Amino acid sequence: MVSNRVLVDRLRDVVGQQVVVDPEVIASYTTDWTRRFEGRSVAVVRPGSTEEVAGVVTVCRELGVVLVPQGGNTGLVGGGVPLNDEVVLSLRRLRTLDPVDAIAGQVTAGAGIVLSELQRAASASGWGYGVDLASRDSATVGGMVATNAGGTHVLRYGDTRAQLIGLEAVLGTGSVISHLGGLVKDNTGYHLPGLICGSEGTLAVVTAARLRLIPSMPCRTVAVLAFMTVSEALDASAMLRRSLPALEACELFLLPGLELVCSVVGMVSPFSGRHPVYLLVEVADHADPTDALAEATNSLDHVIEVVVATDPGPRSELWRYREAHTDAINSLGPPHKLDVTLPLGLLAEFVDQVPDAVAAIAPAARTWLFGHVGDGNIHVNVSGLDPDDDRVDEEVLRMVGDFGGSISAEHGIGVAKRRWLHLSRTEDEIAAFRAIKRSLDPNGVLNPNVLLPAEEP
Ligand code: MLT
Ligand code: ZN
Repeated sequence: MVSNRVLVDRLRDVVGQQVVVDPEVIASYTTDWTRRFEGRSVAVVRPGSTEEVAGVVTVCRELGVVLVPQGGNTGLVGGGVPLNDEVVLSLRRLRTLDPVDAIAGQVTAGAGIVLSELQRAASASGWGYGVDLASRDSATVGGMVATNAGGTHVLRYGDTRAQLIGLEAVLGTGSVISHLGGLVKDNTGYHLPGLICGSEGTLAVVTAARLRLIPSMPCRTVAVLAFMTVSEALDASAMLRRSLPALEACELFLLPGLELVCSVVGMVSPFSGRHPVYLLVEVADHADPTDALAEATNSLDHVIEVVVATDPGPRSELWRYREAHTDAINSLGPPHKLDVTLPLGLLAEFVDQVPDAVAAIAPAARTWLFGHVGDGNIHVNVSGLDPDDDRVDEEVLRMVGDFGGSISAEHGIGVAKRRWLHLSRTEDEIAAFRAIKRSLDPNGVLNPNVLLPAEEP
């Protein structure tokens, strides 16, 4: 086994002083955002160019050292933190952001560009970017591509893979693949960007992406509708999807989550009464969509109360009731995060059954349910569990499998769910995954603890 001294010297040959060995600085790279996954690392390497990334991968390959790529460290399944002394490969210094190609409606961004920077650059050129997330001020382009990030606008614009026109990345072999020409129609073989997007750093290290932009929508209205039952809220969501082409987001949360957010963040409920279920909807268009939204919501059955916001400040405040769920739940201790998709016709039944299924195993735990229900994605967060006790994870993910859902909607498999990949993928699919991994990362240099189930020794 190579000594740390030799490793650090070889890495310094590639990136100079950008090899961090100070344990206090390293600590900020070794714990994930939820604090559920915490590991150790001998060094954090911070390359400043694609060539340096390739050099780092090559050194690790030659020395038989494994590494974990990391972007903004906003992942929620332990996919970007080292667990067993792996080297951390931080991509945050890859901060090239080309001018927006206003004719094509595209931009090329380095892996370290943060989502909110990308959104600002797009909007300064009269365009927008189709993916939005609560962690927009820290999530990076590289991390979002590696995890195929979803977020609140998938309903209208699709996930990160749907924005991806081209990619530059360093394979586990150390070779660089670059296809950033921006041709929308380009049927020249395997679509490597689509394969690498969502591969969670197991096949390649993303260094830059060519991204599609969307027409910017200057006029927006947000409404939160209150219901008695999840099933009524989901019926309303289906109606709104049918009748409002400008619908951009459709998010669910429940009374306990709203009350937790209010107490942790210090907000007051926008409603006069306490209602069991809430649906937040946003419409965005070139002309004011408020009347169209009002007409659509007036035609809905079962709405108990509605609050509406058209100006930016009040709109953000309504969004805060939904987006602050993650921070509010984290304040109760490291949660177990089970981010799943269900067939839309079964989602209400699943949401109604999950809290009892959790309580049967862990009576003292609390289940929090919220998510992007317009696309079938519900976040099952469970607080009050030991970080290593995964009996609840097992039960909920098995239920998801039984309902015909997917055990990961948008956060990825990471460390948290690799044991249960078989609930969403067949043996043959997993064998194909392993074959692809062997071919693009033959020495197993990249992110060894995630996605694929551990193999028997
Ligand atoms: C969100 O949509 O807020 C996050 O993806 C979900 C989470 O914190 O579980
Ligand atoms: Zn989400």
